[in-house]
Amino acid sequence: MTIVKYNTLKLISIINILRNMRKKLVMIPGPTNVPERVMLAMVKPIINHRSPAFTQLYKGIIEKCQKVFLTKSDIIVFTASGSGGVEAAVTNIVRPGDKVLVTVFGEFGQRAAEQVEAAGGKAIVADAPLGDAPRMDKIRALAEANKDIKAVFVVYNETSTGVTFRWLKELGKLASDLGAFYIVDAISILGGDELPVDELGVDICIAGSQKCLAAPPGVVIVSVSNKVKKYLESNPPPPRHYFNMPRYFKFAERGETPFTPALPLFYALDEALTMLLEEGLDNRIRRHKICSEAFYRSLSAINLKPTAKEDVRSNVVLAFNYPTGIEDAKFRKLLDDKFDVLVAGGFGEFRGKVFRIGCMGEVNTPHVLTTVTAVSAALNQLGYQNSTAAALDEALKVLSQLN
Ligand SMILES: Cc1ncc(COP(=O)(O)O)c(C=O)c1O
Repeated sequence: MTIVKYNTLKLISIINILRNMRKKLVMIPGPTNVPERVMLAMVKPIINHRSPAFTQLYKGIIEKCQKVFLTKSDIIVFTASGSGGVEAAVTNIVRPGDKVLVTVFGEFGQRAAEQVEAAGGKAIVADAPLGDAPRMDKIRALAEANKDIKAVFVVYNETSTGVTFRWLKELGKLASDLGAFYIVDAISILGGDELPVDELGVDICIAGSQKCLAAPPGVVIVSVSNKVKKYLESNPPPPRHYFNMPRYFKFAERGETPFTPALPLFYALDEALTMLLEEGLDNRIRRHKICSEAFYRSLSAINLKPTAKEDVRSNVVLAFNYPTGIEDAKFRKLLDDKFDVLVAGGFGEFRGKVFRIGCMGEVNTPHVLTTVTAVSAALNQLGYQNSTAAALDEALKVLSQLN
């Protein structure tokens, strides 16, 4: 317990530093805290986006992304939020009448299915109750009944429920057996958990800047396989202006984007990728896993129940059920006002019933300990008696694995 006492003092000082800086500890599931180095990269001078200086920046970003996605495929960086990447994937692949198998186990899978239908396709939905992910036997049965599926779309990490789909390899094999395109929405997870794009045979992988990559929001990174590129050459997408992939490929040949890129965000992304590669992808994934384990163990020690089933729990977005009597808005306001810690509420059916913690990007020992302290203390203040020391003790045990 001395350890806990010492660290509690340190935590109080972290909370005070944050207060003095009028800065919040952003523990929502994206956007997440952005390291100062990355923020400062954005104050570089504006350059001509049709110049060798931009080409150098852009090519550097692509090379770094390929190392993070573990792919040799083309990479497109769209100036858009994550949804733009999903829209690009869907509208370039789906033609009227095409069947797309979509996993739906939360808000973002639901939105993907809606986008497929909006593009004139037919979404074959593999769903699961909230807090779980569809299992392969269910997905295989749907594929068996729909051999003409053109694409398989999976949300790797369902940010709305804190659930990760753990069978990417099996699903990739199924997509390949069907001769279907394999599309992975990895917006909230890439950089925080394993996703070897080429090894898994992923055709389109979408990652957000504002999540595990720890860059500001506003750009979305999409890897596109040769198979998709070839398909688009002989089957041009319906005439669309902005998210037209062939247009991006054409401009990429000379190291440019077809439309004005958000230059400060490109600088920031470049710096964030540099930091990621300096740390090493494996080390970064390990850090995310250890921090999430520390959250699960410490908050379970004060009897909070994770929303997700154990075998599909996310390492990057953690959802916990509220104890009876705790009001969502009051709890999160208290965390924000008194502790300067931001966590998110639930979506749809889970609204008011769960809170979500983003365990992303630069998450490390101070982030976990500060958040656990704040959550435990706020719950105590709202009448849910629990031991902050017991929670911190559990967190520290797990976090001792970090250097
Ligand atoms: C899995 C997933 N897909 C899509 C999106 C949409 O991204 P954005 O809000 O950046 O448009 C999000 C956002 O949180 C997400 O987590």
